[in-house]
Amino acid sequence: MCGIIGIVVSKGAIKERLGSVLRKCLKNLEYRGYDSVGFAIINWNNELIVRRSKGKIDEVSRKLGFDDYDGHTGIAHTRWATHGKPSDVNAHPHIDCTKKIAVVHNGVIENYQELKRELLMKGHVFTSETDTEVIAHLIEEYKKKGIGTYEALKEAIRHLKGAYALAVIDKDEPGKIFFARNTSPLVIGIGKNEGVMFIASDIPAFLEYTNHVIVLNDGEIGFITSSQVFLEHINYGIVNVNERIRVVDWTPEMAKKAGYPHYMLKEIHEQPLALSSTLAGIGSEAHKLAELIASSKYVYLTGAGTSYHACLIAEYLLNDLVGIKATAFIASEYGRFRKSIARNDLLIAVSQSGETIDTLMAVRRAKNKGAIIAAISNVIDSAIPRESHIAVYTRAGPEIGVAATKTFTTQVLLLTWIIIKAAEIKGELSPKRTSEMLDLLKKIPDIVNTTIRITEPSARKISSEIALKTNAYYLGRGLAVPISMEGALKLKEIAYIHAEAYPAGESKHGPIALVEEGFPVFFTILSDEYKDLIIANIEEMRARGAWIITVAPKDHEKAFSISSFAFKMPRLEYWAETIPYIIPYQLIAYYTSITRGYDPDKPRNLAKTVTVE
Ligand code: M6R
Repeated sequence: MCGIIGIVVSKGAIKERLGSVLRKCLKNLEYRGYDSVGFAIINWNNELIVRRSKGKIDEVSRKLGFDDYDGHTGIAHTRWATHGKPSDVNAHPHIDCTKKIAVVHNGVIENYQELKRELLMKGHVFTSETDTEVIAHLIEEYKKKGIGTYEALKEAIRHLKGAYALAVIDKDEPGKIFFARNTSPLVIGIGKNEGVMFIASDIPAFLEYTNHVIVLNDGEIGFITSSQVFLEHINYGIVNVNERIRVVDWTPEMAKKAGYPHYMLKEIHEQPLALSSTLAGIGSEAHKLAELIASSKYVYLTGAGTSYHACLIAEYLLNDLVGIKATAFIASEYGRFRKSIARNDLLIAVSQSGETIDTLMAVRRAKNKGAIIAAISNVIDSAIPRESHIAVYTRAGPEIGVAATKTFTTQVLLLTWIIIKAAEIKGELSPKRTSEMLDLLKKIPDIVNTTIRITEPSARKISSEIALKTNAYYLGRGLAVPISMEGALKLKEIAYIHAEAYPAGESKHGPIALVEEGFPVFFTILSDEYKDLIIANIEEMRARGAWIITVAPKDHEKAFSISSFAFKMPRLEYWAETIPYIIPYQLIAYYTSITRGYDPDKPRNLAKTVTVE
């Protein structure tokens, strides 16, 4: 939620104007929120210029002339509103009464009302409804004691409760960006050229300029100049910066659209590559997790949204292939298991970003109870992996589209690999059977490639009819249920069509009441024990006039003969079908969104990474 970028440059270090670099970097963070945009620049005359407005980056930067501003120190922000509606006054940066201090923030200050009351009593004047504005006034207030901006920020931090990633500039101390992190992500980018330093919410922001990064931890605070990083922990003192620098192997191209009209389409098409990279990256940590699973009595899995759907697939496979009791739960519903999660239970936390606050909080709570935490994530060194005992990475490359696509299929591939290995360690699968299954997984990138090629024209064709609908059901049995849930989520979030997923057998217990002539019902059929049983469910829907769209193995003639539209899929073993069978649903959602005139990369009300509970 919300994207932050800050840059300090020395004279001549970059050719472009600072405003233009800030705008470009901010654009790479647009997936984090896009309801309003703003920047603050200290120009070469050491004047502070602040511009902000409601709207998306392209429109706002044209309106405010972002690219025309130059200077040596700048911060910018793209917002996803939490406190105060999207508006010009609520857009960041927020400034203090002296108009010297500018603050951008990602997170939520839980005690802002209390702080605001105190500051109002001291005569401060507020101009927005945001929680962020208190930070600018708090720093101003502490500076009155005669201390510098950094010390004032430290004082302010001690009074803040909640989540924050902060970047602050002060006209009184030009050439520095002060920062602090608690729960919300923040990374420093060490410019390849001397004399340029970055701070941002996420690495893709500055990838064009550097891949040398420091991922900040909770409780860390400091400042950057154009040539120096000062970093300390609020409680434990100074941090050795050199020991913290990491080199990431992402390229800027990986974070750009590469000729596709949208990131989402690019990321759908990138899946064969991403899946190959997941397989190639499997190493000792994945083996360790398989061993941990094999020695566990009970396994919990948690995540949010798409990552939760990957957990559901893993839950099913843990039961089916390893014979281990497993329960997947939605991270924000941790309370259901508060009492039962015990010391040494294994909790697998799945999160693309590694920063989703619901998942992070579930991890922290389970860890406090003595559980062993394993993270499956796409972002190296993000909060969830860092707070886990073991971290295994999907290595899908940066995902910018708000709708998760390649990160879902790579999560499922990685979890399936680990679970097969755990089954072998536990003696549930022979070494021969294990290597047969792992061989099939190795073919998945190619199978997905073919699936995209074959299903894309049909998905595009059917989307013009789906675009006219207002509701849809996604039904399946067994492992096809989480696939249906993921298909329905995709259609909801980017095409804004109400879509619900149910176990097909459950549909006759209520949902079928809504079905009338032309009501779209998607059936997912895998090569499992349910493949014939589900025919009766299709017939029930058909008898009530439903428009049946079926995604099933290509030789399932019976299913196709009673469907209005068919996606003929490769026949594999059921547990390997989960990955290719989601592809038509990703494509249907994408093309339906386009047909309805929406931007699938920036669905309304959503942000790529949800860092508020
Ligand atoms: O980064 P995470 O995997 O933790 O994100 C979890 C969800 O917010 C995410 O999957 C969300 O549901 C996506 N928009 C789905 O496409």
